[in-house]
Amino acid sequence: MSKQTNPPIVLEAKGITKRFPGVLANDSVDLQLHKGEILAFLGENGAGKSTLMNMLYGLYRPNEGEIWIKGEKVEMSNPRDAIDRGVGMVHQHFQLVPVMTVAENVMLGSEITRGGGVLSRRKAEERVRELSHQYGLDVDPTAVVEDLPVGMQQRVEIIKALYRDADILILDEPTAVLTPQEANELFRIMHDLTDEGVSIIFITHKLKEVLNVADTVGVLRRGKIVGSAKPAESTQESLAELMVGRAVLLRVDKEKADAGAVVLKVEGLQAFDDRKQLILRGADFEVRAGEIVGIAGVQGNGQRELVEVLTGLRTAVNGRVWIEGQEVTHFSPRKITELGVAHIPEDREKHGLVMPYSLADNMVLNDYYQKPYATGIIMHQDAIDAHGEQLIEKYDVRTPSVKTPASSLSGGNKQKVIVAREFSRPTKLLIAAQPTRGIDVGSIEFIHTQIVAQRDAGAAVLLISAELDEVLSLADRVAVMFDGRIVKILPIAEATRERVGLLMAGSEDA
Ligand SMILES: Nc1ncnc2c1ncn2[C@@H]1O[C@H](COP(=O)(O)OP(=O)(O)OP(=O)(O)O)[C@@H](O)[C@H]1O
Ligand SMILES: [Mg+2]
Repeated sequence: MSKQTNPPIVLEAKGITKRFPGVLANDSVDLQLHKGEILAFLGENGAGKSTLMNMLYGLYRPNEGEIWIKGEKVEMSNPRDAIDRGVGMVHQHFQLVPVMTVAENVMLGSEITRGGGVLSRRKAEERVRELSHQYGLDVDPTAVVEDLPVGMQQRVEIIKALYRDADILILDEPTAVLTPQEANELFRIMHDLTDEGVSIIFITHKLKEVLNVADTVGVLRRGKIVGSAKPAESTQESLAELMVGRAVLLRVDKEKADAGAVVLKVEGLQAFDDRKQLILRGADFEVRAGEIVGIAGVQGNGQRELVEVLTGLRTAVNGRVWIEGQEVTHFSPRKITELGVAHIPEDREKHGLVMPYSLADNMVLNDYYQKPYATGIIMHQDAIDAHGEQLIEKYDVRTPSVKTPASSLSGGNKQKVIVAREFSRPTKLLIAAQPTRGIDVGSIEFIHTQIVAQRDAGAAVLLISAELDEVLSLADRVAVMFDGRIVKILPIAEATRERVGLLMAGSEDA
């Protein structure tokens, strides 16, 4: 990308420090964002990235340090102050009202809403259309938000910021929820924005993305800036090492699978999605003890519903499921868990954690009513906390204490808590949906090693991932899902990226 020789600094943090109870989340952080630049931010889970961004957006106040925007020192007490200075932020969990239209969402809380109903809505629709056109966003202002795919909803958030004249955009892990195609579209949009002079801070855990789109990379480790790099002079390995402080194995090391008896058998499985449309249209496959079957597919082809049926969270409308020969098609989630099924759910906010509960309590959600955690109705909190301590240590969960509520953990550390809990029980069948979404590279290495260890200990593993790289590097067999069915199952040796990609797009296999 061509850049002016000396673009001015539009946003600067000087010596920012932020403390939470028991945590130094940011420690004298300095940052400079230049006009028209894409500054990527990398760092381990809990390193302090979101905290820093929340301060730049006026959501948190620093304990120490200064924030300068366009040459002026600012004191911000809420996002309104940031928005007034042209700073917009897209959070990982979107803050849109699902039942309202795009234009209505964009207008919410904005100046132009004041005064006239229909007239101001027309104006808003017109402006959304202009912005959409200008940046190739392809967003229909009259569409209802809940009908839009995730990638589109994210664009609505971007438009919302642009509508308020933001020329500094903060994107906190925008690609975590996107398909690879949607992510590429987002990168194109980011470049169109920077060409128009918008400056962007972009947080991600995907090193490839950093190398492809950033102009500069900043790295945070345990609240401190530990370095910055130019993508042109970096590799995935060098970035990973800067981030984690040691060399990281980016590829999975494993022996050939030694598959045993069938553990999971699925036949003609059908299910509705949330809108009562038949989305799972007859899935058939088996997973054997000691093997990893990876499901590859573009999101929205029935993978989510498949997992929910297998774990008892959704009712099958047709077809049958067996675990070790026992039919379990309409079992409750608890009964399925008690058969030795571990589940890493895709939506950790909804199914994985009870946010107000402590970490320790979250670690025993499946077995809190059993020994050693309880005798009858008496709970043994000491045993629960000790168990929590062990897992925090083993899984490197970054938290001040086992008593900390799950809600105050960083995104990736929440995921680690679920993984730790699900991996620490005897398991016959592991169903892992997007197990490393939002996880830093060092922890991905660890989680992948653990998945392979489960396999080697004889568990049947069903892996569902939107990351084709993850499926191809972990799976022993690759099952491609398209239009609600498993259209092909390939041994890993025959599962080339090209072949799997074609099958995922619905092409006939050659
Ligand atoms: N509201 C809060 N209350 C207490 N502690 C918090 C709060 N928000 C963040 N923390 C703590 O601050 C530290 C930094 O968290 P932060 O969310 O900034 O990490 P992050 O770099 O964004 O990580 P991730 O990659 O997992 O999203 C963590 O130890 C976290 O537990
Ligand atoms: Mg974060």
